[in-house]
Amino acid sequence: MSNTPNITLKTTGQKMPIVGFGLWKVNKETCAETVYNAIKAGYRLFDGAADYGNEKQVGEGLARAFKEGLVKREDLFITTKLWNTNHKKENVKKGFDRSIGDLGLDYVDLYLIHFPIAIKYVPESERYPPGFFVDGKSKVEMEKTPISETWAAMEELYDSGRAKNIGVSNFEGQLLTDLLNYCRIEPAVLQIEHHPYYTQEELVQFCEQHNIAVTAYSSFGALSFIECDMKRAKSAPPLMENEHVVEIAKKHDKTPAQVLLRWATQRNIAVVPKSNNKDRLAQNLNCCDFDLSKEELETLSGLNRNLKFNKPTNYGIPVIAAFHDY
Ligand SMILES: NC(=O)c1ccc[n+]([C@@H]2O[C@H](COP(=O)([O-])OP(=O)(O)OC[C@H]3O[C@@H](n4cnc5c(N)ncnc54)[C@H](OP(=O)(O)O)[C@@H]3O)[C@@H](O)[C@H]2O)c1
Repeated sequence: MSNTPNITLKTTGQKMPIVGFGLWKVNKETCAETVYNAIKAGYRLFDGAADYGNEKQVGEGLARAFKEGLVKREDLFITTKLWNTNHKKENVKKGFDRSIGDLGLDYVDLYLIHFPIAIKYVPESERYPPGFFVDGKSKVEMEKTPISETWAAMEELYDSGRAKNIGVSNFEGQLLTDLLNYCRIEPAVLQIEHHPYYTQEELVQFCEQHNIAVTAYSSFGALSFIECDMKRAKSAPPLMENEHVVEIAKKHDKTPAQVLLRWATQRNIAVVPKSNNKDRLAQNLNCCDFDLSKEELETLSGLNRNLKFNKPTNYGIPVIAAFHDY
């Protein structure tokens, strides 16, 4: 069993491990093996999405771990996300059914709206996962579906017991405030880009006030977006080489990656680092057995430069092109 601390989620009281494994860009070819190895290493939370295109392989890794008796379903916390093309009421259930079917599960522990962006539906038979482009290349067509409609359908999934908790990702304060005004079931989790170069302190405080658990993604800053060949990421300062991060890591005999993860978890923010490498995967899970001092936490928070990488609505529509042009 993993000794990772948990965050208790509102509404259900379910425990969510504070460190999980991120599945974006986990290679399809090795994904089943990676998931299996991650479970063996002690990971109990997996953060996936329809958009990551590897849910079948994730399901294979989970099935192997169940079959070999490594874990039971109830030992794991599985998150997945509704893609932008499935925001219409009737398409929310379709997207969800496809995800849990691919994962080979009866329920997920957390279902998130991936982005507050509604794009025209693309039938599964045409392309799956559909990505941002309705024509598969460069054309984005928005869809007039308000979040209220999507959220009502998410609430129905919650009522059915197939999504144990529901939440949102890439939302900002105003949109969350609006959602809280009309929702029947409040979002349990907000997942956002969060690292010392993009701290979003006010949004984190807002979530604390409303007892919404925060999960950080891209905890290592630009690294993940360099993998996407994003220009801005390639010219950004590497967070793991920042002198303060390096110095604090040396002092604690930890790696810069572990310090970046601890900076979040020590402030009760969950993390879901991704690694295609077995050693780094194990290293990342092992990031809660030391404490940063108050001064060290402040130093890391003080590195904020509002440097956000993941902002698809700003790419320009319809010329969304791709990450590497941005
Ligand atoms: N909701 C959203 O819109 C959203 C957006 C982005 C991400 N996410 C979620 O958050 C997860 C994590 O974010 P992310 O994948 O963007 O980035 P990340 O975990 O911050 O960084 C991944 C990058 O860091 C490298 N890395 C991992 N561990 C390392 C270590 N210990 N030392 C040095 N390098 C290391 C990885 O390379 P190797 O693989 O070679 O180790 C990869 O290049 C995703 O997988 C996904 O589940 C959600």
